[in-house]
Amino acid sequence: MPSLLETSAWQALQVHYAAIRDTHLRELFANDRDRATRFSTDAVGLHFDYSKHRITEETLRLLLQLAQECGVAERRDAMFRGEHINVTEDRAVLHVALRAPRDAAIMVDGNNVVPAVHAVLDRMADFSERIRSGAWTGFTGKAIRSVVNIGIGGSDLGPVMAYEALRPYTRRDMNFRFVSNVDGTDFAEATRDLDPAETLFIISSKTFTTLETMTNAHTARNWTVQALGNDAAVKNHFVAVSTNTAEVGKFGIDTQNMFEFWDWVGGRYSMDSAIGLSTMLAIGPNHFGEMLGGFHAMDEHFRTAPFECNLPVLMGLLAIWYTNFFGAETVAVIPYDQYLKRFPAYLQQLTMESNGKHVTLEGKRVAYDTGQVYWGEPGTNGQHSFFQLIHQGTRLIPCDFIAFEATHNPLGNHHALLLASVLAQAEALAFGKTPEEVRAEGNPDWLVPHRSFEGNRPSTFILGDSLTPEMLGKLVALYEHSVFTQGAIWNIDSFDQWGVELGKALAARIAPELESAAEPELHHDSSTNALIKRLRHTTVSS
Ligand code: F6P
Repeated sequence: MPSLLETSAWQALQVHYAAIRDTHLRELFANDRDRATRFSTDAVGLHFDYSKHRITEETLRLLLQLAQECGVAERRDAMFRGEHINVTEDRAVLHVALRAPRDAAIMVDGNNVVPAVHAVLDRMADFSERIRSGAWTGFTGKAIRSVVNIGIGGSDLGPVMAYEALRPYTRRDMNFRFVSNVDGTDFAEATRDLDPAETLFIISSKTFTTLETMTNAHTARNWTVQALGNDAAVKNHFVAVSTNTAEVGKFGIDTQNMFEFWDWVGGRYSMDSAIGLSTMLAIGPNHFGEMLGGFHAMDEHFRTAPFECNLPVLMGLLAIWYTNFFGAETVAVIPYDQYLKRFPAYLQQLTMESNGKHVTLEGKRVAYDTGQVYWGEPGTNGQHSFFQLIHQGTRLIPCDFIAFEATHNPLGNHHALLLASVLAQAEALAFGKTPEEVRAEGNPDWLVPHRSFEGNRPSTFILGDSLTPEMLGKLVALYEHSVFTQGAIWNIDSFDQWGVELGKALAARIAPELESAAEPELHHDSSTNALIKRLRHTTVSS
């Protein structure tokens, strides 16, 4: 296969980019009355309008050709076949198996993994029902009313995001808390008002060795044992979600109370594995099943739909277009739904840990940019903070707008105003306001440049009927497969994360230096040495 820059599609895209880079969306819409229809697709219950992008039919044709020349379909099929496409860790990448129906067969190294997936789902459902019904009790015989998930990264961000997104479906008479940060404040504040006799801790960690999670887990165990006065309380108040049975046992959690997942599930792709136990406890097994159904519907769409109407592929190709041709560095994700307030944070790990890579699968330095900075906040709040820069700043920031036809909280005209706002933002970004229009409003000449909007700011409009568990599954899988598409084109390993290792190793070296009673011999750079010296007395004495 030719390298990315040698593909004929890439070269044609460069020529094409030079020809259309200054074409304005105003012109593209004026010249094509059917543009909104031409560049919109409805699939798996989502309306995906990408007409406000700086593309023509030729752009799309070339991007689709690029996907073909880069072997996106082949790589996708290899993933679904369970091949070890995570080459640097020599692992299959099969989060799609987590949401496969009971009768499906997905093979990893010669074994169908679907029965094991459903066996764990069944155990999770049984456990959830026992907690939710009060049949499972704490050490003193009280029912569990509070659930605290302890995890970080993929073992936290998915569970938090899903809990917030699906609040209308959650047990309102129970507390759900999430502790991730090694900053003791996180644990202290999350547990401040909880009764240890009614609290269940879920220790979620793929490896069960992560510093933050294990530190918080030990603190949680002390908190529980001290309050309940007996080590035996751990059995009633702790369960684990992990791939590492040995470490779970060592920590002192009965491995009967462990929910398993597998090395072919990446941390950031794990929210629908047993890592979703807190989600299932909150929304119940049936709604959890509906969420998996949404994931699976998008998986099937990605696997089977022709690329020209394949939502994740289109989304991924647009990301390539802006990153590699327009030089855009960030993508703003703006959900117009308060329940999706943690969705951008969730996407940051999914997208940036996946595609923040500087070498190809073969280990050669890439000759093009990869990854983008994903960020965002719910609308309409963002409009009153960072939107100014998107509208009138000097940078190009493509936006993903996410909205739903129906709200869970129909209050007066709130929802109409919310939808009016998202439509208005997309329109204003695309079409702007010309100096002539500003002048015609009676503005003095000196104010005209300040009040003009260039427009030509691209956005995608993703519209669903309402934010149900199924819809959430579809949305997450849409982004997962868009990330996949981008990674396949960039020829990088989207499923490893070596970049997080160096900081972890250095922290392990610095922690004993900070905590040592005797003055340690320091061999860092002069800045780090000085900071360690300055901070030592605070950490040693506390
Ligand atoms: O440090 C990054 C990372 O390895 C993520 O990829 C992962 O989601 C997170 O840490 C937590 O890891 P674990 O689930 O093994 O505790």
